[in-house]
Amino acid sequence: MTMRHPLIAGNWKMHKTPQETEEFIVELLPKLAGVGEIEVLIIPPFTSLDRSGTLLQGKSLQLGAQDLHYEAEGAFTGGISARMLAACGCKYVLVGHSERRELFGDDDTIVARKLNAALDSDLMPILCIGETLSEHDLVEEKITRQLTQDLTGVGGKALAKITIAYEPIWAIGTGKTATPEVAQETISMIRRWIASHYDEAAAQGTRILYGGSVKPANAVSLLAQPDIDGALVGGAALVPGSFAQIVDAARL
Ligand code: PGA
Repeated sequence: MTMRHPLIAGNWKMHKTPQETEEFIVELLPKLAGVGEIEVLIIPPFTSLDRSGTLLQGKSLQLGAQDLHYEAEGAFTGGISARMLAACGCKYVLVGHSERRELFGDDDTIVARKLNAALDSDLMPILCIGETLSEHDLVEEKITRQLTQDLTGVGGKALAKITIAYEPIWAIGTGKTATPEVAQETISMIRRWIASHYDEAAAQGTRILYGGSVKPANAVSLLAQPDIDGALVGGAALVPGSFAQIVDAARL
């Protein structure tokens, strides 16, 4: 028996205006009838959040943000705080997505601060970790380092609010997916790390997603793995039809 509810999350990255977001939501909602225990989440750009929050009130589709600033407020031009995101209706926030790490300079110290800022304001962080192609042989070391540094100061109670997304960087936006077996192996390794640094109950209770070129065609076999609790989807989440098919794969 698992207490972990599947989560299918669509990370839109830098795509869609507020109007395009509204059109997507209107098309997606009827396709989600009867999703039951599966949580479905869209993560649009900041500029679409306020309108999305209004449209999604009382609906079975959750809202998340792609990033946050670790300070609550102040002279941080361009920054968006956790409280601002929560006020738009966000329940989740991505922290440490590989594009933030690689293109915007979010190192593990910053990721840890963002994670704690999200937790302090009751947003549920989705902590993204994963290795590059050249690090693939050393995946355990990379993942262990990220978990150790990113979860600095996070106790067991706070961990229960965190979803982890394992995203091999070589599989993001490349069309190359980790095989279900490789994804399963790495995700079970993450669970073992949690067991040894927290406890077995925490390891079994933590929701861990796979991300990296998830498509309707490969979603069923990925989601069938015992330790994979859902998917963080980029490209295939931009079209309501293909995103809904991935949600359907989680129903099986
Ligand atoms: P992709 O992106 O599905 O387009 O590979 C995944 C992600 O970056 O979260």
